[in-house]
Order: sequence, then structure tokens, then C-alpha cells
Amino acid sequence: MYKVQDEFLWGVATSASQIEGAWNIDGKGMSIADCLRYRPEIDVKNYKKVNEVDTKEIQQALTDKESKNWAKRYGVDFYHHYKEDIAQLAEMGIKAFRFSIAWTRIFPNGVDTTPNQKGLDFYLGLVKELKKYHIEPIVTLSHYDMPLHLVLNYDAWYDRRVINMYEMFATTIIDHLSEYVKFWIPFNEIDSIVRHPFASAGLVKDRFEERNFEEVIYQSMHHQFIASSLIVKYCHKHYPDMQVGSMITKTTVYPYNSDPQNVLQSLKQMREVYAFSDIQIRGSYPEYLLKRFEQQQIHIEIPHEDISLLAENTADFIAFSYYSSVCAAVDTDGLKVSLANTTSGVYNRFLPQTEWGWQIDPLGIRISLIELTDRYNKPLFIVENGLGAADELTEENQVHDKYRIDYLSQHINQVLCSLEEDGINLLGYCTWGATDMISASTNQMSKRYGFIYVDLDDFGNGSFRRLKKDSYFWYQKLLGFGNEIPKEFFL
Ligand code: BG6
Repeated sequence: MYKVQDEFLWGVATSASQIEGAWNIDGKGMSIADCLRYRPEIDVKNYKKVNEVDTKEIQQALTDKESKNWAKRYGVDFYHHYKEDIAQLAEMGIKAFRFSIAWTRIFPNGVDTTPNQKGLDFYLGLVKELKKYHIEPIVTLSHYDMPLHLVLNYDAWYDRRVINMYEMFATTIIDHLSEYVKFWIPFNEIDSIVRHPFASAGLVKDRFEERNFEEVIYQSMHHQFIASSLIVKYCHKHYPDMQVGSMITKTTVYPYNSDPQNVLQSLKQMREVYAFSDIQIRGSYPEYLLKRFEQQQIHIEIPHEDISLLAENTADFIAFSYYSSVCAAVDTDGLKVSLANTTSGVYNRFLPQTEWGWQIDPLGIRISLIELTDRYNKPLFIVENGLGAADELTEENQVHDKYRIDYLSQHINQVLCSLEEDGINLLGYCTWGATDMISASTNQMSKRYGFIYVDLDDFGNGSFRRLKKDSYFWYQKLLGFGNEIPKEFFL
């Protein structure tokens, strides 16, 4: 038997722009996510191209109010289905539900002087609904989402004034939900700004033609760190029971082989992500990052008071997403490339791949738990793990997603082994996906992650009907075991 503590948070995870829809009703403003569309003409494995947004594209998005191409505007209409969805998830047995707040529902333009009451009401209704079923809300404040107004008038996160606008938004919703929410995550995958600066921080390259764009990215990154620390400070001061997490994309990087050169290369690549959690957990910029800035002549402004703010307001726990791993080599000539979320690396011949080319590596989740524990010795929270697949609906309205059950079973088995043997402190585990939703990187509906199928295609056609997949019943069975889970369940 695996033993799990009573308070372990088994759950599911989502984000506002991928599920909610209702993009322009009840006072919601336009978000950067509303400018992203599925592009069938581009290979979806080339995520950079798919999510490349320039000023021209934004202008098009601004004028095109009708077309269904802008998938995140419609999501899976969780805004109108949330009671039905939460009821089905409660019946599945979840104890935690991770979701994010659409900034534009609360402050439509980011600069508004008063919050939009209908937006506040929606999230209060949602958390009350969760509490009705004793489900713990885990709230991400910014998940690939910000007011488009701030992009067009303030250059988004590059502008230091945006920190205060975010603080206003964040503290408003924190106060509003304070009675119900304990766990807060200021930014989803805070490291992702370097991989997709538009989706993560509203940075449009052609608006910075005079500047070194990499410098723009790192300056914006710094502003997000300051914003996070302000949230830690606010929560600790006003609500001592709240916990605020740093969240990173934890892709494991292995050396391609035992050549020490490749081992060193893999360590260097891992530091690209650890730099972010190092700052948020240890409270200062690591020397290796400062050295890199120096070598690459990247100058970012860090006022003196920022240094103490970061040092004094470190995160309480480390949340992370885990989907995949890659290999690293110094000489990549002739080596096959593989994908892992929005990162790519050298193909690992020991691992299978998903339909979208992400390598499947269950042991990697356990390795991540050990690595993070050894590095920080802090509570951890797996807030995303799952499989994107093109599910088929049968004539009997069923989805036989054995591949998803296999993926989750293998990963959860490793998590439970780690709890049993590795001395980790894990708060919970959330799958990515609850119902299906729009893919973050490709804007496709057909890349499905949920336990509940939503009848909708890549072009916004469908009835939005919800149908339980086989994996729904599998997760329900797992959660039904309570805190003693038979090991045979994973065979
Ligand atoms: C995570 C993101 O990195 O990966 C989610 O936080 C995203 O928003 C998930 O949906 C899966 O990626 P994708 O691109 O397949 O939707």
C-alpha cells in the first residue's frame, strides 16, 4: 500500500484563457490571449511560429470580433458551465481545483480605477461552488493573460508601472477571495517569458526595434519577480495563513551520454530554469545568471530597494508543471530533436513520444521531486501533469483514452514511490486538464488533456456537450482509495 497524508491535495488544473470563453461579456476587457489563434497552415510542433504575434496580427485581432479563429476567446465556455463542470469533478473525487483569474475580468484595461463587479462576482461564485464540495481552490493570478491595453499603451511587463497595476489587480482579488483561498501562485511558469515573451508577458518584438530584445525580456522578467515578491509581502502581512508559490516549468534535462562535456551542458541547461526558482526561493539573483548577463552585455535595471524586497519576500512553496524531459549535448550535429512542452532538446532513444512529439518520461517526475527537494528543501506542489492527445468519440459517445490512463498511472506511481522513499514534502498533485480545453501553445481544441470530453472542434464548431472519458472513471477509482492506495492499481 502507498500511504498518502489525509490533507494531500489530489486535483486538476486549468487556466482562465483556456477554459472560460465569454471573452467580451459582463465587462471583460480584451486580453493578450484573445489575439492568439489556431493556424492550420503552420506545423503545430513549431510552437514559436504558432504563437508569433506582431503588431499587424494584433490589429487584425482588434478588428475581427466575429471569427471563431481566436480559440481562446471561446475556450470551452466554462464561464457558463462552471457549476456543471465542478459538480462532475466533485463526483470524480477531486480535493483541489487550480484555476487562474482573467485580469481583464477584474480590471478590463489594467488601468481602471474601480474593479468590474461582475468579474469579482464570477470568481466568488466559483470559489463558493468549490467550497460547497470541500474542494480547495489553488489560484494562479497570471496564467498567460494580461490586458491588451497594457501592451498597446505601456509596452506590457517591460514598463515598471505595470507592476503597480498588477499589484492593484492581485490584491483586489486576494482580498475578495481571502475567506476561501489559501494557495496563490502569482505567475504560471515564470520562466516561460524567455520562450514565449508575448504569451507570458505581452512583449511584442516589433515594438522594441531600437532595443536588444533579450534585454527587454530580462527586464520584464525582473518586473515579474518584483510583482511576485509584492504579493508574498501582501499575503504574509494581511493573511498569515495564505501560502504563495513560485511556479516553474520543470523539464528534466539529461546528459545525452556520459561524456562529461554533455553532463556539464545538461547542468547549464537546467540552470536556465533554476535561475527563476533560485531568485524566488533563495531571494537573490544567482551569480551564474549575473555572469551570463555580464558576458552577453545584458543590462537590466535593478534599483537598490528591489534587492531587499526579493530577499525578504521569498515564496513559501515550489509549484511546478511536469510533462516531459529532453537530453543535452554539446555537439548536436546529426542528433534527432525532440520536444518537451515549449522547450526542445536532443531526442532520448529510451523514451516514447506523444502525438505532439513530447517525450514521455514518468521517472523524470520523480527525478524532479528529488532535485527540487535537494536544491531547496521546501514544500513542493505538482500543479500540472498530463497528456495531450487527439481523442476519438465513439458512436456510443465514449472516449477510450487508455493512453492517458497509462500516462497518468505511470507518473502518479512515480510520485507515490517518491513520497514513500525519497523524503520529499509534497502538498499535492494536479493533472493538467479537467474538462478538455484550448491548448496553450497551439490554440487547438483537438489537443485534449481532460477527463471530460467537450464536444468542440479546432474551429469553434460543436455543442459544448460534456462527456466523461474512461480516464474519468480511472481517476475516480484512484481518488476513491483515500489515503491507502494499493500498489497493484498501477500494474
Ligand atoms: C503548461 C501550461 O506549460 O502546459 C498550460 O501552463 C498548457 O497552460 C500546458 O496548456 C500544456 O501545453 P499545451 O501547449 O499542450 O496546451
